[in-house]
Amino acid sequence: VLHTHRREQLGDVIAATEETTTGVIRLRAMERDGVLGFPVIAVNEARTKHLFDNRYGTGQSTIDGILRATNILLAGRVFVVAGYGWCGQGLALRARGMGARVVVCEVDPLRALEAVMEGFEVLPMERAAAIGDVFCTATGDRDVIGREHFALMKDGTLLANAGHFNVEIDIAGLRAVASGTTPAREGVEGFVLPGGRRLYLLAEGRLVNLAAAEGHPATVMDMSFSNQALSVEYAVQYPGSLERKVHGVPREIDDEIARLKLESLEIEIDRLTDAQAHYLASWDQGT
Ligand SMILES: NC(=O)c1ccc[n+]([C@@H]2O[C@H](COP(=O)([O-])OP(=O)(O)OC[C@H]3O[C@@H](n4cnc5c(N)ncnc54)[C@H](O)[C@@H]3O)[C@@H](O)[C@H]2O)c1
Repeated sequence: VLHTHRREQLGDVIAATEETTTGVIRLRAMERDGVLGFPVIAVNEARTKHLFDNRYGTGQSTIDGILRATNILLAGRVFVVAGYGWCGQGLALRARGMGARVVVCEVDPLRALEAVMEGFEVLPMERAAAIGDVFCTATGDRDVIGREHFALMKDGTLLANAGHFNVEIDIAGLRAVASGTTPAREGVEGFVLPGGRRLYLLAEGRLVNLAAAEGHPATVMDMSFSNQALSVEYAVQYPGSLERKVHGVPREIDDEIARLKLESLEIEIDRLTDAQAHYLASWDQGT
């Protein structure tokens, strides 16, 4: 809104902070095109954010949303995760932990390779479509599951999304190919395809962990919101020092949040001795 309808207020903004993966991607695109009106601190890029909130928070709450919406048994089901980023990794691991047979779909060779080495089956969506029982997208991308995939899916397939927006599943395409809808459960809409197969869309294709469950527990959001609060404090403490770009969260803030979180969990860790610190930093020892 500030960049479009309230441009006269752009100059009043000291800085902004951005919470999520897709938001940071959009802000970097604005920086690249030279239209970003104020500095932004990319909270998502703090390690104490994406390694925990996205992986463990989204991983758990997405499973929670799918189960609350459907009450299915995950054990023995083929669970397809589209996108093996931080959210997808957490989701895949938890689905496997509940006994599902997990298939991963990716477009990034490195992430696909990680999924392979983690022991997941990796398939293109076209092949996964025919064997999956439950599909969940977590890509930040659009039309990851589309008409060509609906045509291949089994009767009773469940479709859910945990990514940023309700565009990861082509819902307009699903409505277009369906001959009608069938009542299912609260938050679940059944689509009848030609031939009688039924596909079930959870939470209108919106973030299933927020729409059908309660989102992430406070015990992981504490780190994300600490990053938000301390980044705001940082920006206010040093006004004018940040360029109109997307900046990472200062390393000291990230490290301090990890330290505080461990302290709150009453977990102690070892400390480097001076000799160890010197050894680790040296080039003339241990080579
Ligand atoms: N539901 C929530 O509460 C919640 C929480 C955090 C992040 N998010 C959102 O979830 C999405 C994923 O976040 P992340 O941190 O895991 O991002 P990420 O960048 O780490 O991972 C996204 C992955 O999706 C893959 N991908 C992109 N297009 C694809 C396609 N067409 N098919 C298969 N894979 C594809 C990418 O290669 C990447 O590995 C983002 O939109 C983010 O904003 C949601």
